Amino acid sequence: MSKRTVLTGITTTGTPHLGNYVGAIKPCIQASHDPDVQSYYFLADFHSLVKNQDPDRIRQSTLEIAATWLALGLDTERSVFYRQSDIPEIPELTWILTCSTAKGLMNRAHAYKAAVQENLDAGEDADFAITMGLFSYPVLMAADILMFNSTHVPVGKDQVQHLEMARDIAQRFNHHYGELFELPEAVVEDHVAVLPGKDGRKMSKSYNNTIPLWLPEKQLRKAIMKIVTNSLEPGEPKDPDDSALFAIYAAFASREQRGAMRQAYRDGIGWGQAKQETFDLINRELLPGRERYEALIAEPARIEEALQEGAEKARAFATPFLQKIRRSVGIRQLV
Ligand code: TRP
Repeated sequence: MSKRTVLTGITTTGTPHLGNYVGAIKPCIQASHDPDVQSYYFLADFHSLVKNQDPDRIRQSTLEIAATWLALGLDTERSVFYRQSDIPEIPELTWILTCSTAKGLMNRAHAYKAAVQENLDAGEDADFAITMGLFSYPVLMAADILMFNSTHVPVGKDQVQHLEMARDIAQRFNHHYGELFELPEAVVEDHVAVLPGKDGRKMSKSYNNTIPLWLPEKQLRKAIMKIVTNSLEPGEPKDPDDSALFAIYAAFASREQRGAMRQAYRDGIGWGQAKQETFDLINRELLPGRERYEALIAEPARIEEALQEGAEKARAFATPFLQKIRRSVGIRQLV
């Protein structure tokens, strides 16, 4: 049996926050050390153009995300860590797949449908401000995944439909041209709690409620002090299951720490103290990574070098595989 091939992409539009760390970065970095897994992690910078057309922001986000993964100890020997735009085989495969992907399939994509609905609700033309990039996004994502014969793709719930589309696209291609692609599966980590943000809703860039991962210590403390709580006084019992602060604490805590804090809430710990303890716990975990992060950010050449090495490894697989795909569709030399 071949190794499990895990692949996931990170869109380079934002600054990494605690929710990204708990939900995606940490588990992926752990998996990167697993000898039974071949993992591919990449910066989805072509995807980022769909959402963001600010060149400085895209460059900065690429730098920050790459530095984050490296600072946190990604195993770059075992795994392949690269920037999507360094792999020209990916856009080439995107086009080949585009030509056998049903437009009707893309019409059903949630993100596209939501954009159309928003236009209609606003009394605009259905296509207002909708780019072909937004419409074709799932084909590019399918190419990312199929390019490396990925079997398992860790994603958030919002991406599950894109994985179903990638399977559909692969199946249709295989049916017509022969069995070239593995059918990938979405891996939605249900046991990794969704981290709430400062306002108690899911921590997400779109809600503007995030706590950036690499805030300097003082600012991190300040941000944690701003997490919403209720007006219960110290001494009054508090419900840990109805507290964003507790959920954030729990995401960083060991089982014992979690149990003890649960009890402390019931025993009426004051919000100020609970916040201080949450800060201490998170800060302790992030301290060593923060130093490495600062050092890397100051030396982008080291990051670039790691990405170039990753691209080379990725292309060692992608180049011959794309040749095979080209041949299968009839794009080949004449003699
Ligand atoms: N669309 C994904 C997101 O917004 C990012 C992504 C791009 C991705 N290509 C991918 C995820 C391939 C998994 C596999 O989160």
